[in-house]
Amino acid sequence: MNLLELDDVRLDVKGRAILRGVSLSLSPGEALGLVGESGSGKSMTLRTVLRTEPPRARVTGRVTLDGEDVRGLGAPELRRLRAGALAMISQDPRAALNPLLRVSRFLVEGLCDARGETRDAADRRARDLLAQVGIADVDRCMDSYPHQLSGGMLQRVVIAAAVAGSPRLLLADEPTTALDVTTQSEVMAILDDQRRENGMAMLFVTHDLELASAVCDRIAVMYAGEIVEIATPDRLHASPRHPYTRLLLDSRPSLTTRAPVLPVIPGRPVAAHEVRGRCAFADRCPWAAPQCLSGEVPLVHGDGRAVRCHRSDELAAELARATGTEASA
Ligand SMILES: Nc1ncnc2c1ncn2[C@@H]1O[C@H](COP(=O)(O)OP(=O)(O)OP(=O)(O)O)[C@@H](O)[C@H]1O
Ligand SMILES: [Mg+2]
Repeated sequence: MNLLELDDVRLDVKGRAILRGVSLSLSPGEALGLVGESGSGKSMTLRTVLRTEPPRARVTGRVTLDGEDVRGLGAPELRRLRAGALAMISQDPRAALNPLLRVSRFLVEGLCDARGETRDAADRRARDLLAQVGIADVDRCMDSYPHQLSGGMLQRVVIAAAVAGSPRLLLADEPTTALDVTTQSEVMAILDDQRRENGMAMLFVTHDLELASAVCDRIAVMYAGEIVEIATPDRLHASPRHPYTRLLLDSRPSLTTRAPVLPVIPGRPVAAHEVRGRCAFADRCPWAAPQCLSGEVPLVHGDGRAVRCHRSDELAAELARATGTEASA
């Protein structure tokens, strides 16, 4: 059985569409990357799972975790879920910590509340967790206030708190965006270890297609509040099937060739509420045809991947050839 399932999740705030029917599934232990440009709905997708969408949001569709309907849970069950099976880390670890509390209190109180442990047991476990996430001087870290720690150390503390309840699913919203590259790799390695050791699944939001490809089993590409393509990283890179994915791959800076001008995707990003009865990407798509302007395009599954493009079969060779040429250049 799938661990997490989103089935046609739609979200609007005051009548403005933000998610336009997001469907995805995640097996136990699997990592799924969510990529796409700013405003495409990545964070909002996570928020529908954690039930932290904006107060005026209207959500329809189903979200199930371990077969349990998350959207139907009452406040006590939701607290139980957030203390156990489900955890979240975000881009800014400072937002998760109370600036007035030492790390020891933050972790120990969290463990006492969530797991009903005694203070001594919670203290021992907090120290173990900090060591596990690569904190060298555990005593000093436990005694510190958030402002006394670097961003990388704080993110480790937040990860320690997140994995303390042995979650089955971690929602990670750009957890390394604010960190330097070395710390970023260390933090990703810690998350990877946790996944391997505890069989934790991860829904990983990032702008960074390379990072998603390095750590995820599959990648879902979002555009204007919907998923336009899902595939394994290898297949996504070798043969993108959606024009947006192809252009996203092309617009990455290359480490080996210096381009005079970095290619950009033409036109401006479209907001979910602006899409009306046509392919959301049609206005920016060099391959758009008349059929793309009449009617919404379904996400079609097949061959272990899914794509939302009328012309994907017809364009497959062309999209792959162009990317292949770029990759081997
Ligand atoms: N509290 C809110 N009320 C109304 N609309 C919101 C709210 N928060 C976000 N939005 C809108 O929802 C859309 C999706 O936002 P979301 O934060 O999910 O984007 P994202 O893909 O995570 O972008 P980014 O990469 O910049 O984090 C955006 O158009 C945004 O303006
Ligand atoms: Mg976001």
